[in-house]
Amino acid sequence: MDKKLSLQLDLLVKDLERDTRVVVFTGAGMSAESGIPTFRGKGGLWEKYDPAVVATAEALQLRPRAVWEMHDTLRQTIAACKPNPGHDAIAELEDLFSAVTVITQNVDNFHQDAGSTNVYELHGNAWRVKCVAEGKSWVDRTVPYEELPPKCQCGAMLRPDVVFFNEPLDEAVLNKSFIEAGKAKLMLIVGTSYTVYPAAYVPILAKQNGALLVEFNIEYTGLSAFADVSFYGKSGEILPLFVQKLKNHLAKKE
Ligand code: OAD
Repeated sequence: MDKKLSLQLDLLVKDLERDTRVVVFTGAGMSAESGIPTFRGKGGLWEKYDPAVVATAEALQLRPRAVWEMHDTLRQTIAACKPNPGHDAIAELEDLFSAVTVITQNVDNFHQDAGSTNVYELHGNAWRVKCVAEGKSWVDRTVPYEELPPKCQCGAMLRPDVVFFNEPLDEAVLNKSFIEAGKAKLMLIVGTSYTVYPAAYVPILAKQNGALLVEFNIEYTGLSAFADVSFYGKSGEILPLFVQKLKNHLAKKE
């Protein structure tokens, strides 16, 4: 391991205790090494698709097929990929700390697949579908769909149970996320461009309530000036190193 990185990680873990309340806030960069494209930047989904055409409630009404084609393609991509060592490292935090919450903007279910048990999904889940007439939602892992848009048994159209642009977030999930963020002593912020609200309030709330903010990203972001420390590199490489340091540190204390 690079000496500077090793020293920085030593400094980070030295004051952490098993009862430190930890919240992990994640974005698309978290799953980049799994093979899921991010939204912004080179090769990002919003370079290929116009969100106004494929990711709004209006688009779903006017062009449901276009919306579903993009979403079905994303589901196929997710189905062909799996969690990476960064997701595994975050799941391992539950063995090391007594209270760990993951708040994610991602819809790929990879935190749960890796073993995290306390995950708040701010933007929904790509595997969930919702009947536009009845409002019921459920998990449907059919991939790809034979016909787009897929239909509910009642005959109405199904929609992806994800949050489109200009749609409100699930109020209960958002409130629980804000409460957890406010109680955090350590917040890890991984792979987000930190551009989309209200999700981006999560680290602000944590900081206002005294949490240490630690960012993991491949580049400087809008959060970097605000974070207490930023680690620049791939999260799938740095997070496992962080967890290893943490294990050594906690083992020494016992
Ligand atoms: P973005 O695509 O905006 O940002 C991805 C971030 O991940 C960038 O800051 C990259 O530098 C960083 N990144 C890329 N690869 C990485 C790696 N291997 N390790 C660490 N960091 C890496 O994605 P989000 O911030 O998640 O919303 O975007 C927020 C929301 O905007 C999404 O949830 C989605 C989108 O529109 C909805 O769909 C409602």
